[in-house]
This record gives sequence, structure tokens and C-alpha cells, in this order.
Amino acid sequence: TRKIIIDTDPGQDDALAILLAFSSPELDVLGITAVAGNVPLALTELNARKICELAGRPDAKVFAGADRPLLRPLITAEHVHGKTGLDGPDLPVPTMPLQTQHAVDFIIETLRREEPGSVTICALGPLTNVAQILIRAPELAPRIREIVLMGGGFFEGGNITPTAEFNIHVDPHAAQIVLQSGVPVTILPLDVTHKALSTAKRVDRFRNMGTRAGDACVELLEFFERFDEEKYGSDGGPLHDPNVIAYLLKPELYGGRTCNVTVEAANELTLGMTVVDWWGVTDRPKNAYYIRDVDDEGFFDLLIERIGRIS
Ligand code: BDR
Ligand code: CA
Repeated sequence: TRKIIIDTDPGQDDALAILLAFSSPELDVLGITAVAGNVPLALTELNARKICELAGRPDAKVFAGADRPLLRPLITAEHVHGKTGLDGPDLPVPTMPLQTQHAVDFIIETLRREEPGSVTICALGPLTNVAQILIRAPELAPRIREIVLMGGGFFEGGNITPTAEFNIHVDPHAAQIVLQSGVPVTILPLDVTHKALSTAKRVDRFRNMGTRAGDACVELLEFFERFDEEKYGSDGGPLHDPNVIAYLLKPELYGGRTCNVTVEAANELTLGMTVVDWWGVTDRPKNAYYIRDVDDEGFFDLLIERIGRIS
């Protein structure tokens, strides 16, 4: 099994990513660390615990991390995710506890304890927690197997400004630190997640599961896709974050290129833009595997087969 830590700001799409991870025996979820993003930290950590219980994993460890970006004020996305961040289903107030340790301390301790090169960090929100690890304990960078993150977009444009994707825009300085860390980074940007849409047919496949988790996914997706459908007339909503987990499970579903990715953090107009040197026109080092293609049918088959295992 592959050891992972999920750093997240749930988020309906984060929720499906967490369900996918828990229902996949290839992955060992060492902990879930919450970060401020789609909604403030008090809600993202609460939502993370709700999802663990929905997955039948009240034994999982959830930690709270950064409540704001490194340098900038927090920007949230209630316009997409609703007031709670997890609007849609009426999930019970969780009874499992929030761990008392800070998320960043937990990750640092875990990286020190586990075998070097064995822990993968899956980042589904702004990169504040992940950057804080690299700032506080830079010597741990070589011990991280890989950072697989949802964020950025280049060919597709942005979703929070014309040029920036939300996770990177919220904490561009954290993203710069991650990309300059020397840790292997894999990026699932909007260029790929906008190809994984929750069409009505796919939502029906969740409905047909006839399980509590399946029904909750229907309600999550039906709320989440409203934003994109109303704004862009798209056929369903983009399932951003589950692509990170699906990539770990079935990398053969994805196609990309190793190249230089640099984040703009100086200019207000393009703040948080991921500048991708796809064609290698600079001498800047190749610091990320940047994904552009997905077998979207294969992705949904995997998502549905796995989440269907949750009773
Ligand atoms: C990203 O931002 C959040 O709204 C989603 O959960 C996803 O992580 C997409 O831009
Ligand atoms: Ca997210």
C-alpha cells in the first residue's frame, strides 16, 4: 500500500476525493489535514470529519492546520461550495474528535517517523500547510515521496481570476515554495479537471448505488455542479480533487509532461497564475509533472466502482 496524507479544504469535490481514498485498499491514509480555503478552517476541519464518518472511518485522524495563507488575507469560495463549504447533503454533526496536534506538526512528525521516500502528500486546497512544513523543516523535503496537487491551469485559463485557479491564487507564495522545494511535484490543473464533468448520466450511477455514501454523493454533486452549469452552461461540474487520488491509483488514465511551472505572485492582475513552460522555451528547471489529459470515462468508472464499495 502507498502511504498518503490528504491536505484538504472540503469542499464537495474534496469530499469525493476523500471517499475515493478511503475506499481504495492500495492507499493507507495516515491522516487528513485541514486548511483554510473554500471556507474558513473551522468549517473545513468539521467537514473533513463529516466525510470520514460518511466513509465509515471515524477512527481516521483529522488535524487542523493553517487558518490563513502565508502572507495574504484568506479568500473563500462560498459562491461555489455554499455557506458550509459542503452544501447539499444533510450530514450529521460528527462525533469523532478533532486531533489536538497542529496539522503541520503532525506531518513533520510523520515524515520523521516513516521510512524516507514512503509518504505522498495529496494537496487538495491552498498549499499553506504543505509550504509551512518545507519552511519549518526543509531537511524533510527529500523524505517526501511526492506531492500530488490539484491546482493551477494554463491552457484553460483561471476559475477565480482570468488567469488563476483558486487553490494557487489563495496562497501563491505557498505554491512557489512547493514548486521550488525539489520534491517531485505532480499537478492536476484545471486543464485536466475541466475534462472530468459530473454529467447527469454519471450522477445517476451514484444514485444507483443505493447506499448512504452514494446518495450523499448525488446531493454533493447536484449542489456543486449548479455553479458551473449556470455560469458556463457546462454539462455537470468539474470533479477537480478526486483526480489527485485517481492519479495515484491509475496513473495510466493521465497524460502530461515534465516541465517548468512558475507561479506569479508579484503582479495583482495575474496573481497566482501558473506559468507552464510546456514547450521548454526557457532554461528554467523541469520541476513538475504537469498533466493535461485524462481518460474521463475511466476516471468515472474508477470513482464509481470504489465509492460503491462504501456501505
Ligand atoms: C479547487 O478549488 C476548490 O474550489 C476545489 O475544491 C478545488 O480544490 C478548484 O479550483
Ligand atoms: Ca479543494
